[in-house]
Amino acid sequence: MSATANVCVVIPAAGLGERLGLNQPKAFVEINNWSLLSLTIKRVLEIERVGHLIIAVPAEFKTPALDHIDRALRDANKKIPFDVVSGGVTRTESVKNSLLALDQLDSFVLVHDAARPFVPQSVFDDVIAKLDSGSKVVIPVIPVADTIKTVNEKSEVLNTLDRTQLRAVQTPQGFAREVLSEIYATANLQPTTDDAGLAELAGINVSTVAGAVESFKITTPFDLEMATNFMNRK
Ligand code: C5P
Repeated sequence: MSATANVCVVIPAAGLGERLGLNQPKAFVEINNWSLLSLTIKRVLEIERVGHLIIAVPAEFKTPALDHIDRALRDANKKIPFDVVSGGVTRTESVKNSLLALDQLDSFVLVHDAARPFVPQSVFDDVIAKLDSGSKVVIPVIPVADTIKTVNEKSEVLNTLDRTQLRAVQTPQGFAREVLSEIYATANLQPTTDDAGLAELAGINVSTVAGAVESFKITTPFDLEMATNFMNRK
């Protein structure tokens, strides 16, 4: 693949954010007057190779989403084509719907959660570099700090996993377009918590690059507080 292969970023932003408890979809929650969606798009627009965006939002938020996208594009002083699609009940469905808007020119597709607005540019660069060098699926990972145990339905410990082999998985997850389209085209698509999970199920090799602690996913009210502090620190 040429070093100038066009990159499309798919942003699943259709989650309801129930664990945040703010009665609005998480991507539209604001920090310092910026929605998570706008912040994430601004970050993505810093990546020069990105030439197309596909954003999945709850169906009734397709029109309001346009303002959030427009604000990020104006702030970044960029004009690139974008599509806004209706998300699904699961993240997997939201990504599947997004893939219908892919263009033949999109050689690589990076799927990046709207809920991770602080991902460093270097993580995008490393994922793209690995795709350039021929990997078909690339994910950012970080070592796990806590000890991880499995438990049964009564919350009793079953066993302890070997921490040296465990990694926490982040986004952006990068794919050669045909591979991503193929794994999502499977009939009886199983909802997975990340996109590479479908590649694993299909027996496709998944490569890793170093993720970053700043890429933490905003899920709970505490995460939002951390995100606000993190943003104000800069
Ligand atoms: O729920 P969770 O935090 O794991 O969601 C990760 C990302 O997937 C978020 O950006 C969220 O908006 C998105 N999502 C989606 N459609 C869903 C559920 C989650 O686009 N049905």
